[in-house]
Amino acid sequence: MVMRRGKGFLLLIILLQQILSCRGGGGGCSPSSCGKISNIRYPFRLKDDPVNCGDQRYELSCENNITLLQLFPGKSYHVKAINYNNFTIRLVDPAISENDCSTLPRYSLSRSNFSDSHRIPTPQIPKGVNNETYASFQYRVSSNGSTQVATRELFNHVIFLNCSNPISRDDDSRFVDASPCFDEKGGHHHVYAGVEGLRVVELRDDCRVTVAASSSIFGPSHRNLSYGEIHRRLSYGFELSWMLGSVCALCDWRGSATDFKICYFDEAYQSIGCDIHCSVAEADCSKKKITI
Ligand SMILES: *[C@@H]1O[C@H](CO)[C@@H](O)[C@H](O)[C@H]1NC(C)=O
Ligand SMILES: *[C@@H]1O[C@H](CO)[C@@H](O)[C@H](O)[C@H]1NC(C)=O
Ligand SMILES: *[C@@H]1O[C@H](CO)[C@@H](O)[C@H](O)[C@H]1NC(C)=O
Ligand SMILES: *[C@@H]1O[C@H](CO)[C@@H](O)[C@H](O)[C@H]1NC(C)=O
Ligand SMILES: *[C@@H]1O[C@H](CO)[C@@H](O)[C@H](O)[C@H]1NC(C)=O
Ligand SMILES: *[C@@H]1O[C@H](CO)[C@@H](O)[C@H](O)[C@H]1NC(C)=O
Ligand SMILES: *[C@@H]1O[C@H](CO)[C@@H](O)[C@H](O)[C@H]1NC(C)=O
Repeated sequence: MVMRRGKGFLLLIILLQQILSCRGGGGGCSPSSCGKISNIRYPFRLKDDPVNCGDQRYELSCENNITLLQLFPGKSYHVKAINYNNFTIRLVDPAISENDCSTLPRYSLSRSNFSDSHRIPTPQIPKGVNNETYASFQYRVSSNGSTQVATRELFNHVIFLNCSNPISRDDDSRFVDASPCFDEKGGHHHVYAGVEGLRVVELRDDCRVTVAASSSIFGPSHRNLSYGEIHRRLSYGFELSWMLGSVCALCDWRGSATDFKICYFDEAYQSIGCDIHCSVAEADCSKKKITI
């Protein structure tokens, strides 16, 4: 999905930053801290923070010095970092231990676990003003000089297979053998891992997917990684965006109901832009673009 960016974004960016800095430090809320995460501030809050601090939807808890985010009911992830510069939070599955490559994720997680209704461009549903708390992607304007708003996925999938027969590298080079990490008695089962888009996985009958997991540090060339490296990246964790439900809700949309509205992260300014795109011919569009 690609859209053109309109005018007036600079003013909006400045405005949003002011609103955010008011909410963040103001109201007598100082940043909270739990273990290694020392910068818990608006929209985030810790369970025991004063009620007026942060946003209830972005509540974290602190257990044994570990910061936890309950992403889905009953399913909490370890918080590794909160990035206020680009509106992401980095999480790791609670069962993954950095120093033990036999640790598999407890929860199966893929991009399909996050709502993707926003991907269908409809004027009625403004992009970035829905009430979605976390998203697996961000709309972005790249810092490479392009003015296009493009969708940036924030993580890739790691698929684990449990097969009753070995897969040879010649048969299927997408998967690496992870068995040395797992104590499979008698070698009746073989565990493989691969970095794939979920829909792409076609499997032999004697293999089943045991778990899908996520990491944010797989670039375009992730073939041929050792399983140790895949595990290391899983323990780095995956990023989610929190801008849609928080800062994007501050966008002040004006314009007709049939215009496309989009809230995006501007990489060059490291800030949020709000924009309206006409659903009609470009010629008429300039008149409708918002300015504040
Ligand atoms: C919790 O983590 C902080 C920062 O790493 C450390 O200073 C503190 O001693 C830890 N407390 C406990 C009870 O482990
Ligand atoms: C967000 O910022 C953090 C900290 O600077 C960085 O490590 C991470 O790669 C960034 N994520 C994206 C998707 O830009
Ligand atoms: C993600 O969705 C799949 C399929 O619906 C489900 O089995 C899985 O439990 C979900 N993951 C989480 C973390 O809720
Ligand atoms: C988000 O919006 C949906 C549909 O409008 C609604 O059903 C749901 O209750 C809302 N959730 C929150 C947390 O506001
Ligand atoms: C800039 O980055 C965007 C999105 O990452 C990409 O689609 C576009 O082709 C790039 N443009 C240039 C001029 O490199
Ligand atoms: C693979 O499947 C077998 C049989 O169901 C099971 O005993 C074994 O624990 C599985 N291994 C992993 C790593 O999931
Ligand atoms: C993967 O590694 C094998 C053997 O180490 C090598 O022959 C092959 O060219 C590599 N493939 C890619 C895509 O790098």
